[in-house]
Amino acid sequence: MPEPTSNNAPKIFDKLRGVIRPAFYLSQNAISRTGVVIATTTGITLVFAFILLIFGFQPNPYAGIVVLMILPAIFALGLILIPIGIVRDVRKFRRLGTLPSTYPTVDFSHQGVRRTALFVVIMTAINIPIFAFATYQGTVFMESTQFCGQTCHKVMDPEYTAYQRSPHARVACVECHIGPGAPWFVRSKLSGSYQVLAVTFDLYPRPIPTPIHNLRPARETCEQCHWPERFSGDKLVIKTKYGDDEKNSSTKTVLMVHIGGRNQDSKLVGIHGRHLGLVSYLPADGKRQAIPWVSYRTVDGTVTDYVSTDAPPKADLLASGERRTMDCVDCHNRPTHTFDLPENAVNKAMAAGRIDPALPFIHKKAIELLKVKYQSREAAAAELPEALREFYQKNYPAVYSLQHAAIEEAAKGILYIYQGNVFPEMNITWGTYPNNLGHTDFSNPDQQSFPGCFRCHDGNHKSKDGKEITQDCNACHALLAQDEADPKILHEMAGGN
Ligand code: HEC
Ligand code: HEC
Ligand code: HEC
Ligand code: HEC
Ligand code: HEC
Repeated sequence: MPEPTSNNAPKIFDKLRGVIRPAFYLSQNAISRTGVVIATTTGITLVFAFILLIFGFQPNPYAGIVVLMILPAIFALGLILIPIGIVRDVRKFRRLGTLPSTYPTVDFSHQGVRRTALFVVIMTAINIPIFAFATYQGTVFMESTQFCGQTCHKVMDPEYTAYQRSPHARVACVECHIGPGAPWFVRSKLSGSYQVLAVTFDLYPRPIPTPIHNLRPARETCEQCHWPERFSGDKLVIKTKYGDDEKNSSTKTVLMVHIGGRNQDSKLVGIHGRHLGLVSYLPADGKRQAIPWVSYRTVDGTVTDYVSTDAPPKADLLASGERRTMDCVDCHNRPTHTFDLPENAVNKAMAAGRIDPALPFIHKKAIELLKVKYQSREAAAAELPEALREFYQKNYPAVYSLQHAAIEEAAKGILYIYQGNVFPEMNITWGTYPNNLGHTDFSNPDQQSFPGCFRCHDGNHKSKDGKEITQDCNACHALLAQDEADPKILHEMAGGN
């Protein structure tokens, strides 16, 4: 049977011939072929993985990294190798002067050639959607709380643990850390890639330093869900504290906190209304805990500068320091990675009944056990409950045998507090991260102190004409009762007397 000639080939192939001939000829090299093999094998694996995902299979974070990040990267590498091989060959042939001026005929009437061409066309048609889908799935995965919180297990463990216990436990990490829009998405991917490298090669600092300097302005993230016009008015805050005596005697502090915002007449009032967009400052330290210079601009444009008379700003800070406009995270710096202090945490757990206040000396003992330096979290999990049992066995044998369940429950409660706050592997312990919401130094003189609001409201920040940033105890809250065993005000509110 005579070999049919190329003239008999279908018309569209004529047009393609100018491209296909050189590509076909030049891709017969090791690099391009390797590329084809890599792209095809990873491509087929990805198709199977995506079918599993479509049917609801949830990969664990590590399988997720392999399927959604590493495989697509290898797949893309395969695709890139094909033209790289071709370009290399062209260069080589040029150098050697053997680049053919006409390429050997790619004879489409030949069944083998037609099959090969068809194979290339089909594989390309399949590869493009795989690549698009892989890229899309990869980014969706990278946005997931699971990826952010669990992938770099040790590094993010403190933040992830605190987050799961916070009011934002159902808000995805990216809602606050990236927010909407493309530019911050790209920025986050760039710094994210560096972070992956830092973790891989163990280059990251422990603890992770704060404040995060490239955090997106909070008003663009927080205000997706909390907008200033919405929050206004007062909030009743009741704090229960327990004593270090045998009976753990309790007292209550009652505050009416003037949160404020925009009131009915559109006036900016209270804690929220008086700062946002209006206050800027120069921090003297990296943690923004020392604030020697503050500027306040009223809505009508009057500007007042306040300077600390205690620790005046240095000349170079005034000349070249970076001014920061106050936003949500200057006060709410721990909205979700809320690390506590032992006293606070134990008081809250006792008030909530997770630690039974009927156990003798439980307040004192719990705080003591929390402040012990354990070798690791595992060591704490073994030693802390055992130490509590021993304490009761030795000092209160009757309590030990009669209230065994309450002691075990309390041990669990104390350990839970420890595990939410102390992470020896990341060098995080009590007070590592300051909390700016309030002024713990004033109200809890025994414990670590964070100046919080008193960074500026210390009564020592004065303007040229003698005005000061107020430290009036009733400016921010009405102190309705302080450390009272049974505050009258609470009975009045409940309608009794
Ligand atoms: C409600 C908003 C919000 C959510 C949700 C959130 N973060 Fe944060 N995160 C912050 C803010 C604000 C800071 C900055 C604290 C500072 O600068 O002092 C921060 C800081 C951090 C830090 C730096 C260390 C530290 O403790 O300050 C890490 C790490 C972190 N976040 C990881 C995560 C991870 C992982 C998730 C999801 C599991 C997450 N964040 C969810 C608001 C949030
Ligand atoms: C995606 C929505 C969302 C974003 C973004 C968000 N929050 Fe929230 N926030 C919530 C929800 C939901 C609650 C819980 C409300 C509740 O429990 O009643 C909450 C609660 C709070 C509370 C009250 C906490 C408490 O103890 O009751 C504060 C304060 C707060 N958010 C501050 C912030 C700050 C600051 C940011 C930005 C760094 C932020 N939020 C970002 C949804 C969000
Ligand atoms: C000057 C400090 C300061 C700034 C700035 C600030 N807040 Fe607050 N915010 C507070 C204080 C104090 C409270 C009361 C906390 C408490 O007693 O529970 C509060 C309470 C809240 C609450 C809880 C309201 C409730 O009814 O429980 C939310 C939500 C909140 N703030 C969100 C924000 C957001 C979003 C921003 C930024 C737009 C912001 N805050 C800026 C100090 C501040
Ligand atoms: C960076 C400095 C700074 C910090 C931190 C700060 N404030 Fe202020 N605050 C100011 C300035 C400046 C004013 C306005 C002073 C003026 O009226 O000239 C102000 C005004 C106020 C007012 C209005 C007082 C009045 O009587 O008019 C309240 C309430 C308030 N702050 C509460 C808070 C609370 C609560 C915190 C902590 C959660 C806080 N501030 C943290 C700088 C600060
Ligand atoms: C600039 C605002 C501001 C000023 C001024 C201020 N406070 Fe406070 N105070 C707060 C905030 C915010 C909290 C925290 C509320 C919370 O935890 O929900 C607080 C909490 C407290 C608490 C309860 C703390 C606890 O854990 O028991 C007491 C007590 C207290 N303040 C007393 C005072 C006294 C007394 C003064 C006057 C010297 C004063 N405050 C001045 C903002 C202020």
